[in-house]
Amino acid sequence: MFGNQSSRTAVARSGLVGFPNLGMETIARRTLKAVAAGEISYRAATFTDFRELARFISVAGGGLYEFLFGDLFPLVSPTSLLAIAVASPRGSLSYRNCFVAVDARTNAVMGVANAFPAEFLRKENYAVLPPRRRSHIQPMLELQDWGSMFLNALAVSDQHQGRGVGARLLAWAEDRARRAGFKHLSLHAWADNIKAVNFYKARGYVAQAVAEIPYHPRLRHGGGSILMHRKIDGPG
Ligand SMILES: CC(C)(COP(=O)(O)OP(=O)(O)OC[C@H]1O[C@@H](n2cnc3c(N)ncnc32)[C@H](O)[C@@H]1OP(=O)(O)O)[C@@H](O)C(=O)NCCC(=O)NCCS
Repeated sequence: MFGNQSSRTAVARSGLVGFPNLGMETIARRTLKAVAAGEISYRAATFTDFRELARFISVAGGGLYEFLFGDLFPLVSPTSLLAIAVASPRGSLSYRNCFVAVDARTNAVMGVANAFPAEFLRKENYAVLPPRRRSHIQPMLELQDWGSMFLNALAVSDQHQGRGVGARLLAWAEDRARRAGFKHLSLHAWADNIKAVNFYKARGYVAQAVAEIPYHPRLRHGGGSILMHRKIDGPG
């Protein structure tokens, strides 16, 4: 059955010629190794990741998107609205501006980064937001490092934190900034998100200023939002 003329021709036609013929034993050994090590792969996000991307971006926002979009449209959750933006090939939240960490075995997304030029934020259409919600976060919208690449979201699922995934996703955003010729990578972190603030500080990020966002029962953060940035060295 295998290796006869017709199957060889089929293999040749399929373009698989030149790929190593691994054999079941090798494949099994490699799979077991990957499972044991909990191997992680990193790749550019694709359209099909859009639901997971929206979920992680929502987590990274620390309640911001729920505050902005909650109960805006009947039966449409804030994460669903995010998913629409993420699924679009254009726009700052587009999957094209995202990078993911996945479980090499199951392909489940375990972490996400979303980065784009800060300048894109000027083009955002906030008209859909109720004026009070928009004005509540206005100081944050205005406090930007406009000439930088902006890391809009970085999140790793709880069970995979502390394994270097966040650092690797951050390195992607820095590399994206470098390749596009930006001098800085900037981001906003809630001042009370001590873990994230320390994570960035440990990687050379310096606080630039604080956007004063008053505490709100639907946006429960104290101390405002810190604009941080880090210089990006030019290509080696
Ligand atoms: C902040 C966040 C993205 C960090 O992700 P993470 O995957 O836990 O980060 P890392 O594992 O790369 O680094 C965390 C720590 O684990 C340590 N670590 C443990 N094992 C490691 C390994 N194998 N390789 C590298 N670092 C490792 C690192 O030294 C690091 O310590 P440090 O920050 O004191 O230097 C994550 O906590 C998160 O998703 N939080 C919720 C969402 C959020 O708040 N996002 C930020 C919005 S601004």
